[in-house]
Amino acid sequence: MGVYTPERRLTNADLTRLVDTSDEWIRTRTGMIERRIAEPHEAASDMAAKAAERAIADAGITKEEIDLIIVATITPDHAFPSTACVLQAKLGLTDIPAFDISAACSGFVYMMQVANHMLRAGDYRNVLIVSSEKLTSIVDWEDRSTCVLFGDAAGAFVLSKCSEPYVGILGNILGADGSCGYLLKLPAGGSVMPASYETVVNSQHCLKMAGKEVFKVAVRTMSDCCRRLLEKCNISPDEVKCVIPHQANLRIIDAVARHLGIPLEKFCINLQNYGNTSSATIPNCMKEAYDQGRFKAGDLVLLTAFGGGFTWGATLIRWK
Ligand code: UT7
Repeated sequence: MGVYTPERRLTNADLTRLVDTSDEWIRTRTGMIERRIAEPHEAASDMAAKAAERAIADAGITKEEIDLIIVATITPDHAFPSTACVLQAKLGLTDIPAFDISAACSGFVYMMQVANHMLRAGDYRNVLIVSSEKLTSIVDWEDRSTCVLFGDAAGAFVLSKCSEPYVGILGNILGADGSCGYLLKLPAGGSVMPASYETVVNSQHCLKMAGKEVFKVAVRTMSDCCRRLLEKCNISPDEVKCVIPHQANLRIIDAVARHLGIPLEKFCINLQNYGNTSSATIPNCMKEAYDQGRFKAGDLVLLTAFGGGFTWGATLIRWK
């Protein structure tokens, strides 16, 4: 596992100088205290490369042993080429396949499922999966309902083929509901609304979210897919050592914990320091939890995410 977070911090106090908000509102409604901000010259692929290099070193392999790169991001360097291709070049690799997936905040659990199946199908040995999000590049700094929530980060894992049974990824459930896509979106810049003077003036290249509606579906879908995944894997909630949830809101995590009947203490939380970094929240939080000794070899770790699309998913891992 490897993580990169930019040095620069944006605190709740800083945000009170930008919009009509307060430290008290942000803390009580979200749990957030500060987030990290990438430098203007730092692209998603730059953050991805730093996280990837750390993950490859942590895996104890050389970068030449990577045989597939997948990147999840809603802030790609460009519409095309893919950020995975840009990353491949930045890592100094050639020939191996590289592609992006688009599943917003659920990107990391989606990538895990894709990489898991590609490894099990037999052709790949070491798959590099990277979430890199420069959300501050699509935030509307005049919209207090969203600008207080997001930050920048990248997280990478190397997933390797393993012949031992009952370790690694034990199961994965994904879901989506495209009919709700309009509740969390970036309206302009695609073929529906190409960039124009009007789209720029009207901030339509910025993220829009109907927070209240998103909140309810996030709680329901994450709780539901975790419950179904545990049933499918024949694991009781008590057996789970820790849960790594998407870090969008402390109140969402609290509600998911109550729905699942898993104590909140088992949920790893670092949104107070980083805010919502979309698909990068899970690898960032999981690496931190591991470094803090919250799980070790043999433990069951449950990941769950929800995001734009709508998309959602859960992954159950027995750590090796
Ligand atoms: O990562 C992808 C998935 N994203 C999520 O899961 C996020 C889900 N949504 C949320 O986390 C929450 O809905 C928010 C944190 C975005 C908002 O919290 P909320 O409790 O749902 O607040 P609200 O939108 O219902 O707004 C309540 C009040 C409103 O004022 P009135 O109408 O009651 O007078 C807002 O205008 O809070 C106001 N408000 C703020 N006040 C101070 C909204 N944003 C702010 C702010 N500072 N930053």
